[in-house]
Amino acid sequence: MSSWTEKEEPTLTALLSRMTLEEKIGQLVQLPPKGDFLDHELKTLIEKGHVGSFLNISDPEQIKEAQEISLRKSRLKIPLLFAFDVLHGFKTLFPIPLALASSMDPSLVEKVARGSAQEARSYGIHWTFAPMLDITRDPRWGRVAECPGEDPYLASLLCAGWIKGFQGDALSSSSFLASCPKHFVGYGAVEGGRDYNSVNLSLKQLKEIYLVPFLEAFKTGSFSTMAAFVAINGLPPAANPNLLKDLLRKEIGFKGPVISDWNAVKELVHHGIAENEKEAVQIAINSGIDIDMASGLYLKYLKELVLEGKVQIDTIDQAVLRVLSLKHKLGLFSGRSSQMEPNKENLQAIIKTNRELALEAAINSVVLLKNENALLPLSPSIRTIALIGPFSTEQKEHLGPWPGIGDPQQVVSLAEGMKAHAPLGVKIAVARGCDFFTSSQEELRQALEMAKKAEVIIVAVGEKASMSGEAASRAFLELPKAQQKLIDILLQIGIPVIMVVFSGRPLDLSPFFYRVKGIIQAWFLGSETGNALGRILFGFSNPSGKLPMSFPRSVGQIPIYYSHLPTGRPSGWSIPSTGYLDQKISPLFPFGYGLSYTRFHYGFPTLNHTKIGLDDVLEVYVEIENSGEKAGEEIVQLYIRDAVASISRPLKELKGVKKIFLNPGEKQKLKFSLFPSDFAFVDFEGKRKIEGGRFFLWVGPNAVEGKKVQFELAW
Ligand code: GLC
Repeated sequence: MSSWTEKEEPTLTALLSRMTLEEKIGQLVQLPPKGDFLDHELKTLIEKGHVGSFLNISDPEQIKEAQEISLRKSRLKIPLLFAFDVLHGFKTLFPIPLALASSMDPSLVEKVARGSAQEARSYGIHWTFAPMLDITRDPRWGRVAECPGEDPYLASLLCAGWIKGFQGDALSSSSFLASCPKHFVGYGAVEGGRDYNSVNLSLKQLKEIYLVPFLEAFKTGSFSTMAAFVAINGLPPAANPNLLKDLLRKEIGFKGPVISDWNAVKELVHHGIAENEKEAVQIAINSGIDIDMASGLYLKYLKELVLEGKVQIDTIDQAVLRVLSLKHKLGLFSGRSSQMEPNKENLQAIIKTNRELALEAAINSVVLLKNENALLPLSPSIRTIALIGPFSTEQKEHLGPWPGIGDPQQVVSLAEGMKAHAPLGVKIAVARGCDFFTSSQEELRQALEMAKKAEVIIVAVGEKASMSGEAASRAFLELPKAQQKLIDILLQIGIPVIMVVFSGRPLDLSPFFYRVKGIIQAWFLGSETGNALGRILFGFSNPSGKLPMSFPRSVGQIPIYYSHLPTGRPSGWSIPSTGYLDQKISPLFPFGYGLSYTRFHYGFPTLNHTKIGLDDVLEVYVEIENSGEKAGEEIVQLYIRDAVASISRPLKELKGVKKIFLNPGEKQKLKFSLFPSDFAFVDFEGKRKIEGGRFFLWVGPNAVEGKKVQFELAW
């Protein structure tokens, strides 16, 4: 299909030298679909070489037709790039990224990314706008659903899995996607948790927290990145050459293309940075935005800006070379049609494998938050179960934000999954009881009547998928009132109630925490939701997830996260100490928290040295025992604290995660290795530094519990 062949592969500079200014600008233009995607205008732009990539097109026939026009009719036959937001699946949906972060398992994340890439690439998509790497401590922000949680160490661990899974070891093979870590950098710190709001960060915070996963992404091989919308310290990245050139290019050495976010070039006018659209283009290209996503303004103004001398041709050439390099890495110049064309011949086999993987991922993403008297897993002696709530038979919502091209009809509902896994003869009566936001007396009455005949009530509640994700920030984190009313009524019966909570963020569960017997955090788990929860509720699988974000007791505690500073009057002191008059300082559930159907006993950590120098490796040994009656997995966490430094250091910082499987009675001795770089922090000049002195170290099941030891860094 392509005129390029292996032997004719161009040197990109040779290709660049043959391009007209319009053709060069075309490579910097990314357009969205329009009603009938390939209308005459778009076909003409492709033929002229005035567009280099498209986003959000998922129809393989349209992708193929567009590519054919570019390869047969355009003058230089430069292949088009097709991008899509493959955040947590494409046709098969996996748990949302925040849910997957609960697995704390980079190898699982890698498998999920790989499965997603295979499906998307078979449709002809080359480039995913993922992973989203915005650390955040504010569950009011809807985009927490897409993020890897509150901790930079965990985010970096998982990010490596995303990138390896999307890109594989050879980006040029035809079953991988180019990744695009986003949104560079600091978007997760929006003021008030309000999406698109401004961000204020010190260089220290930016480098010590928000930049960390991006460095891991670039180290792991990401070759593009997306700039954030938001004004960071008053400047959106699309207008901030210090960020996109000095930091990203010079200091970090990143060589891939930078794409704007949707319309972000045009939005420089709304930010009050540019007087008009033409000036917005001049600022953006000169600040380091290589590709203009969706606004069409590069297409409109870049040529005249070059001719007016306001944009240097070298700026254009460097940007074009970065875009051509991405296409080249993807093998699009190889002439192999397999690189270019959609290829759905293996799709069914891929989907079959991905459904099994989606079940595994969903099971590992579920977090058990409460299990009073070990009511779960449900005993076979329980013969009648009432499943009540708006999520009882729900399918579509489980696809979550950024649902790819997932088909809601292909989602296994909770009711379906419970019925498929209930012991023989167990009756599962199902009723909605209320809608997501409204309830009728009749629905409530029916649910109540049904619940009274049951021995246990499973109440399936939560947010709709549209209540998290982009442009879905919330000022309150409670369940919708109608659902709270339903739970209150069910609790009055006096039969044990277990809450299964579906959400894209930590919700405020404190009104019910003390009153229900069990709480399962089920996020949005994707295509295999019902089977995963059915397996967990009836004990075929033992939950192992651990929270990647702190759950607040109330929205007034936000920002809330485990790695906060001690302050001069630490919480709990007898004299006035940091805290609230009307709320505890601790979260309802801390970072790293999650229960199991079994019990794990942690031994005291032992160290190879209690005093180490900068050339030493600190080896930490700890024995974990499954002291319960069921086999299960445990995510063992290692935290440190730098007791005294020239800058106040967090009470705890995660520096190690190991997931182990133990049978009942089985013990395992784990070894963590810490290197001096693990003890570094960032100073006010933005430089990483290590200082000697006393350190504390914990190994435990979450950010609050753990056995503590001390060591010294002799430096
Ligand atoms: C959106 C999002 C970004 C996404 C892009 C393309 O506005 O901010 O994450 O990749 O547009 O869909």
